[in-house]
Amino acid sequence: MAKIECDLNINGISKKVTIHEDKPLIYVLRDEFGLTGTKLGCGLEQCGSCAILIDGKKKLSCNILAKEYQKSEIITIEGLKTDNYLNIVQDAFKKYNAAQCGYCTSGIIITLTSVFNKNSNPTKDEINSSLEGHLCRCGSHKSIFQAIESIKNELA
Ligand code: FES
Ligand code: FES
Repeated sequence: MAKIECDLNINGISKKVTIHEDKPLIYVLRDEFGLTGTKLGCGLEQCGSCAILIDGKKKLSCNILAKEYQKSEIITIEGLKTDNYLNIVQDAFKKYNAAQCGYCTSGIIITLTSVFNKNSNPTKDEINSSLEGHLCRCGSHKSIFQAIESIKNELA
């Protein structure tokens, strides 16, 4: 497979990288940008651990080609904080210890960030449906939902 030069904007930083043209975006994030917060789980768009934001929308990064996102604004878990302050979802997860191994956590935080960016008071159904496709094998669900409740209270 041929190599190409790929110009990507990730967390506000543009960088040109030389990659195989069929390289999935998650590997570019991790290998070329050193952003290892995005986790590879199933690699089949079935577990949610690789979620990132592309142009403000949640997208799974395990099965999409990096070369196709050269004109996009890509945000990973590392790019959610501003001025060293965690965003509201990250902060709530920290306060409620809403993780055990943490493998699923960045994907879930990305998804919830996109939900709360759109609507500060999402319904329970909207939250539940947004989290479909996110697997947490550690069973952190209780503390995740406590964190979500605290976000809703803070934004109310
Ligand atoms: S690694 Fe992408 S959805 Fe599982
Ligand atoms: S905290 Fe381990 S998979 Fe969710």
